[in-house]
Formats: sequence, structure tokens, C-alpha cells
Amino acid sequence: MLHDDHTPTPAADVDPAIASRDELLQQRYTYRLRFTEHALSPSNPCLGEVLTSHDGDCRVLPVVDGGLADADPTFVQSLAAYLTASDGTAMACPPVIVPGGEAAKNGMGVFNTVIEAINEHDICRHSVVLVAGGGAVLDAVGFASSCAHRGVGVVRLPSTTVSQGDGGLGVKNGLNAMGKKNFLGTFDPPHAVVNDHHFLATLSDRDYRCGFSEAVKVAMLKDEPFFNEIETLVPALLARDDHATQRIIQRSAHLHLDHIVHGGDPFEQRVARPLDMGHWSAHRLESLSKHEIRHGEAVAIGLALDAQYAALVGLLDEELLHRLLAVLSGIGFDLSHPLMRDRAALLGGMEEFRQHLGGQLTITLPSRLGSSQDVHEIDDKIMDQAISMRLD
Ligand SMILES: NC(=O)c1ccc[n+]([C@@H]2O[C@H](COP(=O)([O-])OP(=O)(O)OC[C@H]3O[C@@H](n4cnc5c(N)ncnc54)[C@H](O)[C@@H]3O)[C@@H](O)[C@H]2O)c1
Ligand SMILES: [Zn+2]
Repeated sequence: MLHDDHTPTPAADVDPAIASRDELLQQRYTYRLRFTEHALSPSNPCLGEVLTSHDGDCRVLPVVDGGLADADPTFVQSLAAYLTASDGTAMACPPVIVPGGEAAKNGMGVFNTVIEAINEHDICRHSVVLVAGGGAVLDAVGFASSCAHRGVGVVRLPSTTVSQGDGGLGVKNGLNAMGKKNFLGTFDPPHAVVNDHHFLATLSDRDYRCGFSEAVKVAMLKDEPFFNEIETLVPALLARDDHATQRIIQRSAHLHLDHIVHGGDPFEQRVARPLDMGHWSAHRLESLSKHEIRHGEAVAIGLALDAQYAALVGLLDEELLHRLLAVLSGIGFDLSHPLMRDRAALLGGMEEFRQHLGGQLTITLPSRLGSSQDVHEIDDKIMDQAISMRLD
């Protein structure tokens, strides 16, 4: 019989009682975070253990950030020697060196290099891609790995303050595309993250400082005593004091990981994303500057702007605003940028941010120390005023 009224015809053999099913599909992940020293020393078993705990004997495809390889000429050799000597691991090929910095996420170059290496060296889904580098390389290599064979496991060796205290712990990876930060990407938790503070020694002062803005952010959000501690450690952080940096990076990493594991929304299905406080404008400024502004620098500016706004709408008291601004500028961050003069372009970051989260606009603003408040509307005029105050 012909139907012309677009009413679906029930299949005669489908029992209506079972035609519709809602099942709960659950997946458990073990998240391994290790802080260690001299991770590539042959006598340090830490890295070998997390590689082999994946699935017995393990083939490893090592990928190294070119900026790290240039700054520490011994790194690639030490990594290769470690993997060769380590029981239970087999190095599939010599370390693949990829361009470092945000360039790794702008375009398909690093992505293609990793996909090709996975293919050429017969990396299977029970092998591991071991990636050493800054947050950008971790994001790009992680994305490629999550696409090949629908997901090859990754172990990360973060080598910047941002990646050791924040990005390396994340369950996300990605590339920039369509002029937008992280437009492409997947959620794919790493098998393990191994942080070695000695990797940080070769960072420029500029990159060394970058991870501290993420630490200030997470302290503001979650941990008042940690915020107070950062304030007292500003001179030590400026002097690159190793103990102070280790303390800040470790606490930042644990707070970020606690949020991911215990925050109830590891794959960001809800509209709020507190760890992205200050990020709507930060991501926009990174793109507008064609990535001349580093992520950590943009986060410092974004935090200052949202705090200024929060103070104007009465959520944050003036004294706390000034403490936040003082700690960020004390660490050495500029808290404004000439690109903020293009208000329309900057405010466009808010809609971009909304789309990236999905659903209703949700901006997390600082309120008291150790807590925050989600708002679903931003008053453009007041944000404009906040921008002007930041530019003065
Ligand atoms: N996935 C996430 O959850 C997450 C979270 C935070 C940040 N991120 C991303 O991380 C990126 C920023 O990461 P970043 O701050 O590490 O910067 P980055 O990766 O751009 O690295 C900065 C520079 O340092 C070089 N480098 C890396 N290690 C080095 C070392 N030990 N010595 C000398 N030079 C070294 C790099 O080659 C690069 O030139 C951004 O793209 C950001 O979006 C991702
Ligand atoms: Zn960030």
C-alpha cells in the first residue's frame, strides 16, 4: 500500500515493546599521574612501568617536541636509550621530532606526521604513542593518536609548566581550525602522565611563567590557601626557584586532576566548564594575535578581565580583585593587550566559547577565594567598561 502522508509505517515484525531502548554504557578509565625526577635515567623505572602496565610488552612510538629537542640536545638520545634498555618495551622507531609551539596545532602537519608514523611502523591499538613536549604538541599528537585505529593509547611526558600543571592532565586534545582554538579534537584520556621538573630547566622565562596563570586560576576557583601560598611565592617564582615551582605545578596538577576525576563531568557534557575561567577571551586573543600571545599569557589577561567584570557587577570585592591583579602582574604577566581595543572582535569570543561548550552561554566568574559563580548572561556595556579599565 502506498502512503502519501509521510506517516512512518510500523514494521510488521517489530515488537513495539522492544523497539526503543535506553541503555547505560559505562567505561572506566585508570588515570596515572606520576611526579618523578630524572625520568629518563636508566635507573628510574617510573616511565617503563606506566608503559608496560598498559598491556604487557608494549611497542612504543616516541614523538618529541622540536623546541624541547633543540633546547636539550641530550633529550632525544636519552629517551631512545631509556626505551631500548627498558624491560617490556620495544621502540618501534627512533623518536619522531615534530615542530613545537602553537604551529603544531595550526594545520595538519603534525597530525599527518603522526598518522603516517603509526601506519609505517605498524603501531596497533595496544601499542603506545609516547609524546614529550609542550601543551600544543601534546594536543596535536594526542588528536592524531585518538583518530588512528579509532584510538591508540598515549603516554605523555609534559615538558612545560602549562602542560605539567594543566594541559598534560587534560582528557582533551585538538587542533586549531577555521580560525578557532581547538575547533577539531576529541576527548581521550591518556594512559599516563609523567611529570619531571628537570624538563622545565631549558624553558625560556616567557614559557616558564606561563603555567603560573593556570595555577592562579585553579587556586582562585578551588583553594584559598593555595592562592595565599602563590602570593608569598611570587619572588621565588620570578627567580625560577625550583622548589617553589615544583610546589606550584604539583598543586595545580592535582587540583586540575581532582576536578576532572571528581567534578562529575569529565567529558564536559554540561554547560559549565569552570576550569576554563578566563578562557573565553583568552582563546579569542590567541587567535586574534595569530598565536603570538601564548596560552598562559592570554589566560592571565582573560582572568584579569573577568575579575574586573566580576568586581563591576558586585560579585568580587575590590580588595580581592587587586590581589589577583597584583599576583598575576607580580609573576610578570601583562594584563592587557592592544588587540583588546577591537571590542567587537574580542566579544565575539563569547559566542565562540558558547558553541564550543554547547547549549546555554555559561561563564564562570571569580567570586570569593576558592569558589566561583556561573552566569548565563554577560552585560555587554559592563564588559566594555571592564575592557576599558584593563586598557587604562
Ligand atoms: N588539552 C588541554 O586540556 C589543554 C589545557 C591547557 C592548555 N592546552 C593547550 O596547550 C597549549 C599551550 O601549551 P604550552 O604553554 O606548553 O606551550 P607550547 O606547547 O606552545 O610550548 C611553548 C614553547 O616551548 C617549547 N618547549 C617545550 N618544552 C620545552 C623545554 N623543556 N625547553 C625549551 N622549550 C620547550 C615548544 O617547542 C614551544 O616553542 C595551547 O595550545 C593550549 O590550548 C591544552
Ligand atoms: Zn588553559
